[in-house]
Parts: sequence; structure tokens; C-alpha cells
Amino acid sequence: MTDDTPTPTDKFNQVERYQRFLEVVRARMTTREFDPGYRVPREHYQMIIEAARHAPSGADAQPWHYLVVTDPALKEQLGEHFVQERYRRIQLGMKFPSPNYRGMKTAPGLVVVLADFRYVRAFPVLDDGSPADLAYQRNAERILLQSVAASTMAAHLAAAALGYGVWWVTAIGQEEAQQALRPLLGVPDELSMIDIMCFGPPRKELYRRWKRPLDEIMSWDRFDPAKFRTGAQIDEWIANDRHRVMYRDESRVD
Ligand SMILES: Cc1cc2nc3c(=O)[nH]c(=O)nc-3n(C[C@H](O)[C@H](O)[C@H](O)COP(=O)(O)O)c2cc1C
Repeated sequence: MTDDTPTPTDKFNQVERYQRFLEVVRARMTTREFDPGYRVPREHYQMIIEAARHAPSGADAQPWHYLVVTDPALKEQLGEHFVQERYRRIQLGMKFPSPNYRGMKTAPGLVVVLADFRYVRAFPVLDDGSPADLAYQRNAERILLQSVAASTMAAHLAAAALGYGVWWVTAIGQEEAQQALRPLLGVPDELSMIDIMCFGPPRKELYRRWKRPLDEIMSWDRFDPAKFRTGAQIDEWIANDRHRVMYRDESRVD
């Protein structure tokens, strides 16, 4: 071995590849206001959904479909639903600090993520309505959700790699929203509109949000009790910190 022979761990330029990957991971930042004049090239939609296509999924079922919305009138109607949803939450007395959804109406890129829950049957279930089946069905739904989230995340990272700001909107999941919006987009009843992905050049500079330090989210071999958060601590976080971390640059989260 010469001095410059790569060590086994360096064989694939692991660290360099990882750093390039992490650069994209860190470049993924939420924005809720986009440059409305920008037109997303058709290939960019394809590149983004190509990344989603390669995602892992339970039983390799790939229970997803990506519906690209380019029609400004449809975007306007979708966006208005969310603007109204914000008012609904206020009326219900919900304490959640809902964002302004107006930016959705002019988001250059808008993709509705559809999940096909019929694929729950493809996962380990008994399908006989027994109590054991129920427990397996519940987990099967989680498998499906994890699968679609894995694919959606790949799409978000691809959009970030292309230099876009992204926006992951799940406020579409409630049954009422599904019923209202399904006919608009011609989505069959069998499919669920699980979330919307908006992307495009941000109107203002992107900012990185606070993330928990590595040590806080990691244990080795056994769960570290020092990392356990009580219900009261979580309630306190929701009351005092949630709104600050959601809408501020990490450097401004005191
Ligand atoms: C599963 C999931 C659901 C989300 N739902 C919404 C949503 O309904 N509306 C919204 O404005 N942002 C939503 N977001 C965006 C989060 O608020 C955002 O990711 C978070 O504040 C962290 O910021 P970052 O994406 O810049 O790291 C969602 C993100 C994820 C991953």
C-alpha cells in the first residue's frame, strides 16, 4: 500500500459524497412565498418525480401518484381552500399557528401527492376483521404513510437540489378537504390527497430553521432516559417554543 492508497472506508469517496448529499439536505428549506413570475420547466417536474419514483416502500408497493397542477385557475382554487382552512381553525379555537396560505396560489411548482390506501392489503395483515387483524391493519397504515413520506421526501430533496424553496402542506388530509377538492382535480375516490408539494424560487431569501442538536435525538444500544421528554415538557414546548421555531431563522430562536 502506498501512502495515497485509499483506506477501505474512503474507497467510494464516502465523506465527500456524504458532504455533497448533506449540502442538498441542508439546502431543503421551507418557504411559503415564491416568485410568482417563474415558470418551472417541464423537465424539472420530471426530475423531481423521478427522484420520488426511486423511494423505498413497504412490499415495494409504491402506493403513490404525483399530480402536477399547472393551471393557474386550479392553483387559485386550491390556495383559497387553505386560506379558508386557516380561518376555520381560528373559528374552532385551535391554537395552532397556521401560516398564510396565499403563497400557494402563485407557487410556480405545485404537485398533489396521492396515496392509495388499498395497498394496505399488500402489507402483513390478516384481512379477516379479527382483533389481531386490527392491530396489523393499524401498523399497515403506518407502513403506507411511511412509504409515501419517503417518496415525497425524495421529491423535496430533488427540488432543493435544483435550487428551489419547498413547501410541504398536509392540511389537505381531512375528509372534508378531500371531498371538496377531489372533483376539482378529477381524483378517483379510491385515492387520498395526502399532501401538496409547492416549490419554486423563493420570494425572499430562504432561512434555515432550528433543528434539535444531534445528541438530543440519539441514543446508543438502549434508550437514554436523559433524552426522555415528559408530557409536561412537550406541552411547554408547544406553548412557548413551537411558534418561534416554525417561523424564524435558527439564529433568532433564543
Ligand atoms: C409531514 C409534514 C407536514 C407539514 N405540514 C405543513 C402544513 O400543512 N402547512 C405548512 O405550512 N407547513 C407544513 N409543513 C412544513 C413544516 O412546517 C416545516 O417543515 C417545519 O417548520 C421545518 O422547517 P423546514 O422545512 O424549513 O426545515 C409540514 C412538514 C412536514 C414534514
